[in-house]
Amino acid sequence: MNDQLFEYVRKQFPALKREINGYPVAYLDGPGGYQVPECVIAAVNHYFVNMNANVGHQFETAQNTSAMIQAARGIFADFFNCSWDEVVFGANMTTLNFALAQALVRQMAPGDTVLITELDHEANRGPWLQLQDRGIEVEDVAMDINTCTLAMEDFRKKLLKKPKVVAVNYASNGVGTISDVQKIIQMSHAAGAIAVVDAVHYAAHGPLDVKKLDADFLLCSAYKFFGPHIGVMYAKKELLSKLTPLNLRTQQQAPPYMIETGTLHHEGIAGALAAVEFIADIGLKFGNEFDGPSGDLKDSRRNQILAGLWAFEKYEMTLTGYLIEAITAHVPKATIYGPIAGQPRTSTVSLTYKGYSADQVARYLGSRGLFVWGGHFYAIRLVEKLGLLDRGGLVRIGIAPYNSGSELDRLIDALSDEDALKRFVERKSS
Ligand SMILES: Cc1ncc(COP(=O)(O)O)c(C=O)c1O
Repeated sequence: MNDQLFEYVRKQFPALKREINGYPVAYLDGPGGYQVPECVIAAVNHYFVNMNANVGHQFETAQNTSAMIQAARGIFADFFNCSWDEVVFGANMTTLNFALAQALVRQMAPGDTVLITELDHEANRGPWLQLQDRGIEVEDVAMDINTCTLAMEDFRKKLLKKPKVVAVNYASNGVGTISDVQKIIQMSHAAGAIAVVDAVHYAAHGPLDVKKLDADFLLCSAYKFFGPHIGVMYAKKELLSKLTPLNLRTQQQAPPYMIETGTLHHEGIAGALAAVEFIADIGLKFGNEFDGPSGDLKDSRRNQILAGLWAFEKYEMTLTGYLIEAITAHVPKATIYGPIAGQPRTSTVSLTYKGYSADQVARYLGSRGLFVWGGHFYAIRLVEKLGLLDRGGLVRIGIAPYNSGSELDRLIDALSDEDALKRFVERKSS
């Protein structure tokens, strides 16, 4: 099944035909953004050719645009397991999170506490840290540096401060740790806090179920799962309807519109809709596992989405196990950071290479068509806590469903060829 899935998926991505220096490009930068299948490109194109208009006008293309946006809210409702009026679109996750923080602070008073975590991307730290200007105390929940997991004892202690908001990620884009967000949300609620979940990294790697999690707000970005560069937020209706976001008279003052500003990124939304359809189609073609409501795959789009994500996940995790074992066996200069064996993780594997900076390693790999990112990936606090910020950070390898075992073999060959790395670095510095 894995081979069939891979062969089908691979054909859908025109970008995979790129070559550099005579090498086919292996896009191992999935955590920074996925490549896009043909159906998503076609949907964006179709929008511009057939529907391009602003909403609210009386003519056909404007009405088609409104219907498309409504359909997109519908498919994201299936993606999150919520209702369409709990689906909010925005420029990206960061912008949506700023809007959310600025709305929630209006329900707080100076001296109130917000908890953020050391595991999080700056996009789920900065918007909250800025509330310090308004007299809000923002506290960091520690990360256990040995396992790159949230230090639950520290979290328990910090909850005694009765925070108004707990902002936490579902999975770390820096090292791939998946956190037990269901438990974190339960504990946050018990302390009286609203739980804001950054699911940007997780969303590509497993199904989301905001009902089961009882999340209050959950944010993701379509470009991390085959779509264009837009952000999408789930907002629990009873909380969203009580928010007083910064907005204009032009906006409808009702969920989900009240926190959306200006004209939405229509073509991006059309592409995001197609991206979730792509996942559902994979579920129909290749998936047989889903834990959704009763009913078979044919009758339930949510089940198709779940099955698609599980199929991808299974494929990615097989390759991830292979990659970690191969690096451990064949690249003695590499140290892998992140979750230890048996801990929940995504297919994101980060490492340092003794004697070389992450930037040098990433440039060397890039010259061989192996596109990985070296640095901090805006998981700045995490990289700092690992003691790596002054040393150039980590080399991050992200495995997506269009990556193959042979691409990973090329990566392992390149990493184990230290002479070639040395020559590359010397050539660049001479
Ligand atoms: C875990 C995580 N959170 C948030 C973001 C920011 O998302 P956006 O680029 O949509 O603002 C990223 C982007 O890499 C991320 O990986």
